[in-house]
Amino acid sequence: MSYTPLKLPDYHEQSPDVADRFRRIRERPVVLKVSDLRKTFGTEEGLQVAFENVSLDIHRREFLCIIGPSGCGKSTLIRIVAGLDHASGGEILVDGHPVSGPGQDRGMVFQGYTLFPWRTVKENVMFGLEMGGKDVDHADSEARQWLEMVGLGKVENSYPHELSGGMKQRVAIARALANEPRILLMDEPFGALDALTRCKMQSYLLQIWKKVNVTILFITHDLDEACYLADRIVVMGANPGRIVEVIENPVPRPRTVAQLLSPEFLTLKHRLDELIHGPVDAEEEKLPVIKLTEAGDEVE
Ligand SMILES: Nc1ncnc2c1ncn2[C@@H]1O[C@H](COP(=O)(O)OP(=O)(O)OP(=O)(O)O)[C@@H](O)[C@H]1O
Ligand SMILES: [Mg+2]
Repeated sequence: MSYTPLKLPDYHEQSPDVADRFRRIRERPVVLKVSDLRKTFGTEEGLQVAFENVSLDIHRREFLCIIGPSGCGKSTLIRIVAGLDHASGGEILVDGHPVSGPGQDRGMVFQGYTLFPWRTVKENVMFGLEMGGKDVDHADSEARQWLEMVGLGKVENSYPHELSGGMKQRVAIARALANEPRILLMDEPFGALDALTRCKMQSYLLQIWKKVNVTILFITHDLDEACYLADRIVVMGANPGRIVEVIENPVPRPRTVAQLLSPEFLTLKHRLDELIHGPVDAEEEKLPVIKLTEAGDEVE
């Protein structure tokens, strides 16, 4: 797979540390291999290409973010990787094995809250473990460990409706991780949260990822979120959906909120913004002239 080391302006060349970090990541085994993936949907207007020519190698314990405009096929792509939908062409391998449906090697966290409302927090985490064949005692003690890991040991007997949105998503992460997947697939998992909770969740996720042997494929609309979380960022374009650039994130780890104003962070964000939004066309931005006020107090 080709990828682009981010070309920083003269004042901040890519440091040897960053180059070394990515050399080490590339030396790790490939956990997820996506080759020439393509998805079409049959619609009333005919066959629509959701995305095509999508190829990616994701290495063990890499944190890869995908960003791109609405409709470029991000959710479709991650659903196919999860085995919830079928590709129209191409191949997906997890640890060298072809994906043909859902499996315990992939855990998924969605944007919407997907906990079972009739089960307690602990019972939600136990669900996958019991489905995987663990007896109740084992599932119980493992679920507790995972809840401790995400900082929710105290609410194990609460029901989902008693939790905040951020807590629900932490339970969803614990539930997905409890099966010890090779890859955690996350489709805008913090998209429904307020800005402050979202920041906290990003930091929790990095802390969890440090402790668990898991590779993360994370979809987001939020440029700050991608810059803060990712090792590499895959930028997709629309019509048809495709990969337009893969960028190595130069922001050093461990990440802190203070880095949001660092030259690396701002340069990366600027580059992503350019790729996604392109140069602003003033004419295109104009709305049709339809006036619904006679008040005379003109606004600028
Ligand atoms: N079941 C379906 N039938 C027909 N077309 C579909 C179906 N699911 C998705 N599409 C189309 O595929 C394209 C990609 O959709 P997808 O939901 O993957 O985009 P996305 O990048 O996740 O968008 P968003 O950022 O808004 O979540 C869109 O044009 C969408 O209309
Ligand atoms: Mg989507």
